[in-house]
Amino acid sequence: MRPFPSPSSSSSIHLFISIFMILIISSIISITSSEKPYQDANNTQFIRTSCNSTNYPRLCFASLSKHAGFIQTSPVLLTGTALNVTLASAKATSAMMSTLSKSLHGRLKPREAAALRDCVEQLSDSVDELRKSIGEMSELRESNFELTMNDVQTWVSAALTDESTCSDGFEGASMNGNVKNTVRSRIVLVAQLTSNALAFISQLASSHA
Ligand SMILES: *[C@@H]1O[C@H](CO)[C@@H](O)[C@H](O)[C@H]1NC(C)=O
Ligand SMILES: *[C@@H]1O[C@H](CO)[C@@H](O)[C@H](O)[C@H]1NC(C)=O
Ligand SMILES: *[C@@H]1O[C@H](CO)[C@@H](O)[C@H](O)[C@H]1NC(C)=O
Repeated sequence: MRPFPSPSSSSSIHLFISIFMILIISSIISITSSEKPYQDANNTQFIRTSCNSTNYPRLCFASLSKHAGFIQTSPVLLTGTALNVTLASAKATSAMMSTLSKSLHGRLKPREAAALRDCVEQLSDSVDELRKSIGEMSELRESNFELTMNDVQTWVSAALTDESTCSDGFEGASMNGNVKNTVRSRIVLVAQLTSNALAFISQLASSHA
């Protein structure tokens, strides 16, 4: 004889299902009614709007949107994060150039070897300058705002000059086209990130005037 569920166990299954449904629905309601999605949307919108006034808005948004939760809508955190992202990229590129320079040692004409050495040095200088600007940013207070922003601006401008000199110097080098383009595009990327960070620094500096 087949064991049919008794009416009472069937209704307890119904009760279970009902409770389960209520739990699911209430958790959906509590998710949608919480502030979080609006907050996230606002944070992302803040980055989008801020990036809009930089020279490379798409790169800007791509490099910063994953930090939206941390940046929220703070221009200071936006600027600091842009500098940190730029430093990470500059460090990686500087290391890559240094490795490349060593691996090509003895295989370049003296003038090209010299150009590459210059470039390695300029990138390394730009890493130092970015580090100094980040150090200055961490000292930013209401009381030293103008002076500090001025220093930050000076360091980051110097970094951008060094990166541009390096990428220009690389243009004329007569090495393997693929290597040259790959390397040059990495340096250009660092310079573009730096340019974007500089735009935020200028905005932040003038917001306080
Ligand atoms: C999101 O932005 C809107 C309009 O810009 C504002 O009214 C709202 O309070 C913001 N929400 C949060 C959670 O910051
Ligand atoms: C970005 O700037 C352009 C003009 O420069 C403007 O038309 C557009 O609405 C802006 N977009 C955002 C998301 O702020
Ligand atoms: C940037 O990096 C420095 C050093 O790691 C850190 O102290 C600082 O909090 C970072 N700033 C932001 C805005 O992430």
